[in-house]
Amino acid sequence: MTTASVNERIQLIVSGKTNEETCSPALAKGPWEFDRGPAAYGPGSSMSDLIPTGSPIQGALPAEYKTASEAELHERIIAAKKTLGDKVVILGHFYQREEVVQHADYLGDSFQLANAAKAHPEAEAIVFCGVHFMAETADILSSENQAVILPNLAAGCSMADMADIDSVTEAWEQLEEIYGTEPDENGRMPIIPVTYMNSSAALKGFCGERGGIVCTSSNAKTVLAWAFERGQRVLFFPDQHLGRNTAKAMGISTDLMPLWRGRQPLGGNTAEALLEAKVVLWNGFCSVHKRFNVGQIEKARIDFPGVRVIVHPECPMEVVDAADENGSTDYILKAVAAATEPTTFAIGTEVNMVQRLAAQYPQHKIFCLDPVICPCSTMYRIHPGYLAWVLERLVAGEVVNQIKVDGHVAETAKVALERMLAAKPA
Ligand code: 13P
Ligand code: SF4
Repeated sequence: MTTASVNERIQLIVSGKTNEETCSPALAKGPWEFDRGPAAYGPGSSMSDLIPTGSPIQGALPAEYKTASEAELHERIIAAKKTLGDKVVILGHFYQREEVVQHADYLGDSFQLANAAKAHPEAEAIVFCGVHFMAETADILSSENQAVILPNLAAGCSMADMADIDSVTEAWEQLEEIYGTEPDENGRMPIIPVTYMNSSAALKGFCGERGGIVCTSSNAKTVLAWAFERGQRVLFFPDQHLGRNTAKAMGISTDLMPLWRGRQPLGGNTAEALLEAKVVLWNGFCSVHKRFNVGQIEKARIDFPGVRVIVHPECPMEVVDAADENGSTDYILKAVAAATEPTTFAIGTEVNMVQRLAAQYPQHKIFCLDPVICPCSTMYRIHPGYLAWVLERLVAGEVVNQIKVDGHVAETAKVALERMLAAKPA
């Protein structure tokens, strides 16, 4: 299968034209089918995760965008973009569906897209085809008079939702009781907060205010080294796997990385374990990357001797250990692009990106380690129907679905984000 479109493949599965498998036949419907009713992540990898109450809900999409054919939506997006010219810039994450990616001015990982958001002060609107925390970041980094638009407000992130400001603040207070708040003789603070980009603006602000920083999967090592220059230990949230995999690669023993379980006294740890800790890991994870396992890697090695296995560091540690390489989405892209000989790649990251790579590099055999087609539930909520709608509203002079971060949160989050942008990927 060489199509770059995951949607096309899901439609074939659901209509019985192929005997491949998908995790949910509901993925074949338009995402607007899930806009009504109580908030939920929708079909896909995060469908069984509990969504926090009060999560944004997308209002009804006008009927014309639900009934329009793919070809019509494509033409309407192109026409609206042409009319808007430099007034709009469209950013697309690697995990977006192909039908959306085609219209992106910039396609990238979260680090690259944060930079792209900052680099276009001429655009009146930035349409972010990605998820909520990315749009918040774009708003914080772009200039005051620019509007950042998320085409579907229900495009959140189940991992980002696993750490909220109240439970992190509560954890921090408990940790400060154990560690104190005074620097050691080398001026290093007892603990530095590090949040993964995949977190709310409030948590980025929490880090900015406390001498902490944001990281992405592409610069996590540089950021942890930055934090250890300034602190004796790190509180890393929300992704335990990225934290553990990165710290382990830096030579830190996993014995010194206790897991903090929110809302339990001392996060379910002893004071002794926390005193010895180098990295306190929040108990969050990505449901897309949790689908990968060592059995899939073993099977790939049997089926394709010589296969190159590359996984994203949001995968569990045993999967990263069993792979040949691990790295951010941009790392994976560059590794494939740099291969000069025909190679078989088994990749452990979101299927939209893997399938696009397979279509772009037909000289290689490229497949997703997980044989079941199960995209990120929230990235998948951005459909060309919503993109056409927000663009045509812009043409009519109306900004819909704006993501705005204001006041103290914006100021403090910007501090942590600017530190992140200065920490270049290693
Ligand atoms: P990167 O694009 O930073 O590799 O992140 C992957 C991801 O999970 C985004 O949600
Ligand atoms: Fe969140 Fe995982 Fe989806 Fe990224 S892939 S947006 S971390 S759920």
